[in-house]
Amino acid sequence: MSVPFIDFKEQNRLIQDEVDVGIKKVFEKGDYILGEQAQVFEKNFAGYCESMYGVGVNSGTDALYLALSAIDIQEGDEVIVPTHTFIATALCVSFCRARAVFVDIEPGTYNIDPKSFERAITQKTKAVIPVHIYGQPADMSEITSIARKHNIKIVEDAAQAHGSRYQSKRAGSLGDVACFSFYPTKSLGACGDAGMIVTGDKDIYEKALMLRDYGRKGRYEHKIKGTNSRLDTIQAVVLNAKLKHLDRWNAMRAQNAAYYAELLKPLKGVVMPVTKADRTHVFQTYAVRVPNRDQVMEAMKARGIHALIHYPIPLHLQEAYAELGYKRGAFPVAEAVANDIMSLPMFPHMTKAQVETVVAALRAALL
Ligand SMILES: Cc1ncc(COP(=O)(O)O)c(C=O)c1O
Repeated sequence: MSVPFIDFKEQNRLIQDEVDVGIKKVFEKGDYILGEQAQVFEKNFAGYCESMYGVGVNSGTDALYLALSAIDIQEGDEVIVPTHTFIATALCVSFCRARAVFVDIEPGTYNIDPKSFERAITQKTKAVIPVHIYGQPADMSEITSIARKHNIKIVEDAAQAHGSRYQSKRAGSLGDVACFSFYPTKSLGACGDAGMIVTGDKDIYEKALMLRDYGRKGRYEHKIKGTNSRLDTIQAVVLNAKLKHLDRWNAMRAQNAAYYAELLKPLKGVVMPVTKADRTHVFQTYAVRVPNRDQVMEAMKARGIHALIHYPIPLHLQEAYAELGYKRGAFPVAEAVANDIMSLPMFPHMTKAQVETVVAALRAALL
């Protein structure tokens, strides 16, 4: 049996009727951009995050860029970013003409290391972007106490963490402003690009509203230089339908993760994900560390098992950031993780038999 990396057919089947009706209504009404369903979704999702305001945008990347713009990040500023993440976390800093300052991660959770963050702070540091990597929140109480001491804003990159909790608070309500992606493969995914800025801060909210819509206040009255990054109503129809199932789907992911953990335990050399006691992991990605990762992946692929690497090159070693002058060895934890991390298939409707098949292929590949 081959196992795909993700398979959302069952999810799609569950929401199909609701989406069909919703899209028909959008066509009838013609409110294609930021229409009624988009506004409903902004409210629904901000509420789901136990926060006040949601600003629907084109993508997670735009959510990050506009969130940084809304807190006035500009040329000359420094923003601290973990080096083990998707490149969008750093690109948004560059879009603001500020400098991305990379820091290392913790070995257990693969999240930003608060000590590495504190060491990187300078007079120019204006913000930090903790990424809740793979679906588990970063160490937000440590990060918050360091950030508050130095008057640094916290921008959560929650693109992988819809629904996770840190000390009972939802991802999205843990910093000054949070950014979500609804890229189709995310735990809450649209059928195209979409994203959202979530915040409890009215000033950030009002600025983000203008920034995503040409900086306008009235129809042709432009207060600031904004851009065009608005949520499509059809994407919101899909997202509203899926949001109702998200907690259940996250619980199904957690069950799959528990079964993986049970079966992987006897495998020598496999490092399983660590979930800290004070937070929940929503397992958008189930990442393990394995010896001889590349050969293991090849052997698994030959048996029809599709694994991926998130992420093979830390950002400080990416060609796109060569100008910053980081050298290999700068962030030893992230560099070691990049060499042996591997994401196994994970989706809510994965069957026990599929989990068993993946683990059997991994066991055989390790021999
Ligand atoms: C951690 C992280 N940040 C940002 C993004 C960017 O989101 P998008 O693809 O919606 O632009 C992603 C996902 O792709 C991500 O995983």
